[in-house]
Amino acid sequence: MSKRIFGFGIIGAGVIAPTHCSAIRQIPNARIVAFCDLERGKAAKLASEQASEAGVPDVYTDFHAMLRRDDIDVVEILTWSGVHAEQATAAAEAGKHLIITKPVDTRLERIDALIETCRRCGVKLGATHQFRGFPAYKRLKAAIDDGRLGRLYMGNGFLKWWRSQEYYDSAAWRGTWNLDGGGALMNQSIHYVDMLTWLMGRPKNLRGFIATHAHNIEVEDCATAAIQFENGALGTFQGATCIYQGMPSRIEVHAERGNVVIEGDKIVLWNVEGEPLEKGTAGTGSVANPGSGLELAVDAHVEQISDVLAAIEEGRDPVINGSEARRAVEIILAVYHSAWSGETIHFPLTRDPMPPSML
Ligand SMILES: NC(=O)c1ccc[n+]([C@@H]2O[C@H](COP(=O)([O-])OP(=O)(O)OC[C@H]3O[C@@H](n4cnc5c(N)ncnc54)[C@H](O)[C@@H]3O)[C@@H](O)[C@H]2O)c1
Repeated sequence: MSKRIFGFGIIGAGVIAPTHCSAIRQIPNARIVAFCDLERGKAAKLASEQASEAGVPDVYTDFHAMLRRDDIDVVEILTWSGVHAEQATAAAEAGKHLIITKPVDTRLERIDALIETCRRCGVKLGATHQFRGFPAYKRLKAAIDDGRLGRLYMGNGFLKWWRSQEYYDSAAWRGTWNLDGGGALMNQSIHYVDMLTWLMGRPKNLRGFIATHAHNIEVEDCATAAIQFENGALGTFQGATCIYQGMPSRIEVHAERGNVVIEGDKIVLWNVEGEPLEKGTAGTGSVANPGSGLELAVDAHVEQISDVLAAIEEGRDPVINGSEARRAVEIILAVYHSAWSGETIHFPLTRDPMPPSML
């Protein structure tokens, strides 16, 4: 175990911040030294909750002031999705390593510029995508990578987490193109878009459709896409926040020697040649709705944040680095691009699409 203690500064003291704080508290060589939020009260509340024998973390409302501290080694960005790259760039230029929640940012051009800035400044860029850390998905990923499933034929991902209009009205950035970067796909279903490309590989072609059925927002609350992967496998994914509540999230992988279905964090079907057949209880995936699955989420964050610290010490890239985190954003932007243009999108996507209303 390394003796180096990493000081953390956290920008954004909203909904996701306590999960990151719980994770950091479990990492022996990590200490939160400061919080920053535009709303001082939110940062101050979190700081008092995170008080330890080392004291109460300091509170800032201007992240540039926080970045001037030399006892901060790692900055976590937990703010509105559409400002992640801007804040991360300032932190990288101040010599801080970075951990950014999903999405790493909402525009490819900004993500690419950030990756380049981090390279130039010699700092690590890591992102958190907690579903990759859940045991059921790790087990499936290992079976695919070991070749136990044979050739991949089809991969499907469904994440339909209901959100109320009050949710969208609870903060001005939610449900906006500029600051949320999109709707059901960019905020919620990104978890399973990331999962699908992690399991199935890079995309080749995609056709997508979006709709806004049930909310007064400028972005989509319903989306569907058909996708062809570089390895020839096909797939589909659907994301929604308008579907009546209670739907478990679901991943299906169909391959030469097996079918695996996972709902939430539970294996519903493990039917792999030469391995015992497993059938779980369908429909109860415990991470299907907000507020549940928190322990798994914290465990996964511990693993992913620890990996960034190890990457700093070992001089390597984090496992979920900027390019890895970019993949889901590229696919989501391709869905928007396809929906607005009516075209099939061929990867790599070379430019950020613009909603017709903003052209
Ligand atoms: N991994 C997950 O499961 C998960 C879950 C929820 C949210 N998120 C992500 O976390 C991010 C934040 O989401 P949230 O639900 O916590 O939002 P939130 O609105 O509850 O919190 C965001 C906070 O950022 C602060 N902020 C914005 N700009 C700032 C600035 N310039 N300086 C200081 N503070 C600033 C806001 O005041 C706000 O308190 C989003 O990108 C979201 O996609 C991830």
